[in-house]
Order: sequence, then structure tokens, then C-alpha cells
Amino acid sequence: MTEPHDDEPAAGRERTGLSRRSLLFGTGVGVLAGAAVGAAGTAAVTSRSPDASRSPDPSRSPDQGAPVPAVGEHQAGIARPALPQQHCLVVVGDIDRTSTAASLTALSAAIRTVTDAAAPDLAVTPDGPGDLTVTVGLGARPLADLDPTLAGAVALPVFAGDDDLDPDRRGGDILLSVNATDPVVLEPVMTHLQAAVAGFRTRWSDFGYLGMRDGDVSRNPFGYYDGIIVPRGDAELDANVWIAEGPLAGGTICVIRRFRLDTAGFGALAPDRQDAIIGRHRTDGSPLSGGTRGDDVDLLAKTPEGQPLIPTHAHARAAHPSFTGSDLMLRRSYNYRASADDHGHLFISYQRDVTTFSRTQLRLDETDDLMAFSTPTATAAFAILPGMTGDHPLGLATA
Ligand code: HEM
Repeated sequence: MTEPHDDEPAAGRERTGLSRRSLLFGTGVGVLAGAAVGAAGTAAVTSRSPDASRSPDPSRSPDQGAPVPAVGEHQAGIARPALPQQHCLVVVGDIDRTSTAASLTALSAAIRTVTDAAAPDLAVTPDGPGDLTVTVGLGARPLADLDPTLAGAVALPVFAGDDDLDPDRRGGDILLSVNATDPVVLEPVMTHLQAAVAGFRTRWSDFGYLGMRDGDVSRNPFGYYDGIIVPRGDAELDANVWIAEGPLAGGTICVIRRFRLDTAGFGALAPDRQDAIIGRHRTDGSPLSGGTRGDDVDLLAKTPEGQPLIPTHAHARAAHPSFTGSDLMLRRSYNYRASADDHGHLFISYQRDVTTFSRTQLRLDETDDLMAFSTPTATAAFAILPGMTGDHPLGLATA
């Protein structure tokens, strides 16, 4: 019998009979306190473009997913559609904070218009919206304007490499994410949305893409299946992603962290070294500890010589929530390519408590071999506001 290592999860050592997921659910309450502030007004219904009465020609409709309603308890684009669309356009910007509530009302009306499959705005989406979704997040400053108790909800510590970032690449007042199977709709829709926001100034933006899907995952630029261990289904989403109470009830916290990836350096490594850095096999995504792609890594599994099968500095070990006592994060990351020298991983996660992310990133900075091939080039956290329901535009939940 070998002794437990320091790099083994405490929970795993104590309760090896339980699965990691059963350990996680019900832990780490991330509920935000504070009184509701009514920023919501009545959504303005914008008029349709002149040719709006014409329907898109179904024979020209791109091969894309079913329409995704913009209204609901939760914003679209996080768990709806269940599988992320192949493309996204993400913009992080600043806004005129004297007009935040009015901008949210106008933005909500614009979102309803551009996602309305029954009466599409053909001037913006000539073939209809397809599976277009729009997701809106507010950064620390406008959030604190609306409710001072919420400023900490999106506070991030300074992670390794952040000090080197241009100020525009840290934080931001607003996140606009437009996602769709058809990449051509992204630009006109984003232009339309930005026009609804008073004083909009872009800090940075990226076009993101996903690889061919296999089941519900696809490969990242290092060639590994990404997004395997994420909360799935209503019970797991409720336990890990959606905020249950307070002004953000029905919302969640988004962290977006842009990493330039050294694909050349990583690709030059021997295949078994690459697998050791990730903790899974590139071929089929299965954990180095055995099993198939959908299985959790077994952090306690060892070789006959007593070496951990998931190496000490593997990403899957470093990121494992059992070390931080964190919930699961819903990772819906994209690949990006901005230029020949700037391409990589647009890490995007949703969690009900920002510390789920920050505790994990701090641990990656300390112990994750993958970070040697990843340079942060932007970082921000946003409160994803509760969804639009009835006539209510985006804003804080009312009591
Ligand atoms: C720098 C670029 C990154 C790349 C290329 C990357 C890639 C991967 C891959 C291939 C996996 C294994 C498959 C899976 O479960 O999805 C994984 C797992 C994971 N990653 Fe990352 N990742 C990156 C950054 C991050 C960051 C910044 C975080 C959070 C701070 C993170 C959190 C996680 C978590 C929580 C898991 C699941 C671990 C488990 O429970 O098994 N990753 N990542």
C-alpha cells in the first residue's frame, strides 16, 4: 500500500468510495446576497425592417440548429442550445454608465428582434436567425452602479501574466457574445446590438470557432477533446451554474480568459509527454488513469511502482475541483485566430460563484504544466444577468 501524495485531493483521500460528482453537489454555496434593485423597465418593441413581412427562402436556409428562444428564466447561449454553436463573436467593451438601464432596455429589444425566428429582421439576418443566441454580461463598474453589494460578484485576483496586460484587456463594462452555426450572421447582429448601447466602446473582440463535434465535445488547438467534464442537465446546472437567489437569481458568472497557445512548442513534444501534460489521451480523450472519454480522471490511480497515473502537474489534476472544494464550471470555450502570431483558446466558463474559477486558476498558475504553453492575453468576469421574461428587459431580478 502506498502513502497518499500531497497532490492527491483531500476529498478523494477521505472518501474514495464516493464519486467526485457526488462529493461536489451540495457543496460551496455561492449565493449572492443583497437587495434587488429594479433596473428593469418595459421592453420597447422595435419596428421591423421594411421587408420584414417576407419570409426567408427555406431552400436557402443554411444547415443550422433550431431557433433558440431569447426569453426565459436564463439567458440563451449558456445552456441553450445544449451544445454550443460552432461560431461566436465576443466583444468586451465599455459603456456610458449614466445610461446603463436604458441601454439594457434597448439592447433587450434588439435581442428579441434579431432572434425572432417567426418574424425575422431580414435586414440583419437575410436567412433568418437560425440558432443565433445573444448573451449579455455586466462588469464590475455598471454592476456596482445598479447594486453596490454586487461589485464583488465579479472580482478576480491578479493571475500569473495579468500584470503584463494592457488595461483594456483587463475587465470591461459589458460582454456581448453572439453565437451561431452560421458565422456570417455574427457581424451584422453585433453591429445592430452595439448600436443599442449608449456610448459603446470596444476594448477587444474575437471571432471564435469550434472543431467538428464528436458526441458533445470537439477538439481544441492542441488536438485534445475539450469540455468533457462539465455540468450537464438541469440538476447539475442548478447545483453549479445558476445563481439561486438575490438580484442575480437566474443569472450566472462568466469568466472569459483569452490564452495565446504555443501550438508549435506543444506540438514538438513527444505524444506521451503531451498526454501527460493534459492527463488524457489525445487519441480518444480517455483519462490516463483508464476508462473511456466520458469518465472522470482517477487521481488516486497509480502504477505498480506507485507513480500517479494522472501526473502530478497534469492539467486535469491541477484543474480538478476536489482540490479547491469548488463546484463544477460549465466550460464553453472556443478556439480563436486573430493573426499568425496570435491564436489559441478563448476560455469561457460559467459558474454560480466567481471563486470557483479563481481558486482553480490560482492552482493552475502554481502547478499546471499546461500553463507553460498558454499566455493570458485578456481576462474579465461578468455577471450574466437573469433572462428576459414577459415584457421585462435584461436587468437585475426584482424581488
Ligand atoms: C489554457 C488553455 C486551456 C486548455 C487548452 C485547456 C484544455 C483542457 C482539456 C483538454 C481538458 C480535459 C478534457 C475536459 O475535461 O474538458 C481540460 C479540463 C479542464 N480544464 Fe482546461 N484548458 C485550459 C485552461 C483552463 C483554465 C484557465 C481553467 C480554469 C481556471 C480550466 C479548467 C479545467 C477544468 C475544471 C477541467 C476539468 C478537470 C476535471 O475535472 O477532470 N482549463 N482542459
